[in-house]
Amino acid sequence: MHQGKGISRRRFLEVMGAPLAAAGVATLQGHRAEAQGQAITLYTSRHYDTDRLLYEGFTRQTGVRVNVVQGDAPKLLERLKSEGTNSPADIFMTVDAANIGRAQADGLFQPVRSPLLERRIPAFLRDPQGQWFSLTRRVRPIMYNRDRVQASELSTYENLADPKWRGRLISRSSSSVYNQSMLAAMLVQRGEAATEAWARGVVANFKRAPQGNDTAQILAVAAGEADLTFVNTYYLPRLMKSNQESERQAAAKIGVFFPRPAHANVSAAGVLKTSRNRAGAQRFLEFLTSLEAQENFACRANNEYPVLAGVPWAPDWPASGHLFRNRCRSSKSVATMPGRCKLLTALAGVKLSPKAYSHFKCVCDSLSLTPSPSPRKGEGSKGNQNNRGRSIFN
Ligand SMILES: [Fe+2]
Repeated sequence: MHQGKGISRRRFLEVMGAPLAAAGVATLQGHRAEAQGQAITLYTSRHYDTDRLLYEGFTRQTGVRVNVVQGDAPKLLERLKSEGTNSPADIFMTVDAANIGRAQADGLFQPVRSPLLERRIPAFLRDPQGQWFSLTRRVRPIMYNRDRVQASELSTYENLADPKWRGRLISRSSSSVYNQSMLAAMLVQRGEAATEAWARGVVANFKRAPQGNDTAQILAVAAGEADLTFVNTYYLPRLMKSNQESERQAAAKIGVFFPRPAHANVSAAGVLKTSRNRAGAQRFLEFLTSLEAQENFACRANNEYPVLAGVPWAPDWPASGHLFRNRCRSSKSVATMPGRCKLLTALAGVKLSPKAYSHFKCVCDSLSLTPSPSPRKGEGSKGNQNNRGRSIFN
């Protein structure tokens, strides 16, 4: 039973929508009947096999088939715009707040009012008008070579600009939306001058010019080519569970350090204006935020973090036992900041189009890392009193 995993009965009923929310159940039943036997078309930039298992579960439960069109977010957005009102798509789903913000800025979504989604997803993780809803959270901590770096040497992202890391730090390029959003969050939090100083310091500390994806950074650090990097968490457990011995050995060399605040982002989705099966699309989003889907989708399948409160972290991901409390804020100020392109160029050492950064509509930045009610064995809350951050694997 789910209650046995640390969720109170009241919370269980609340998130499942019954009986504390009879109105929500009625809405659901109405949608189920309306959507029965139909199909929805999903445009998604998520590319995980495990997502498909989830979609199959949705079809079994509702009778609604899911046609999946998978591709890069910018290409899917172009496709949606060129298809216009003839688009067959019902839902656009993507990773990174910047991508969902771009879709919203392009006017592609329609508002959805769902008592269930509004109850399950904290307000800071969804659009106030219901144009998009976060489905998972993703965090970008510091990862380091345990033979070369002590956790006690680490503190904040700002600290990565310290000259003590000269020639020891690596990162993927700022052409990655992950780094763009991280920098945007920093702009919102700390302002342009401080962020520019940080970017320049980080670039000065680079061991090499930015190259490769997040996984490549982890493997390079594990191989001793550099000492530390900053990457999304789920790439490490992916290596830990790899069927290649060399990748599992590499993962074992890596320590993870969560600065306070640790930068967090979202994977999110919205119902498109072109949707011809709005009821089915809404039901799909509601399904993805159910307890079962959050446990599998967010935690077990891809080691992301759930949006639904009370869902336990993935058992094989050591960050379990800690909750990230995030805040999502409109960042129109980021989109209009004149220095943003200069900063990103400085961070990556590459020239990029100003247009690429015009739509940081929403930037999520985690503001604190607090202990959950039931920390894992050996991960007591004591360590979380440390304002300098939280390290695991060290
Ligand atoms: Fe990723």
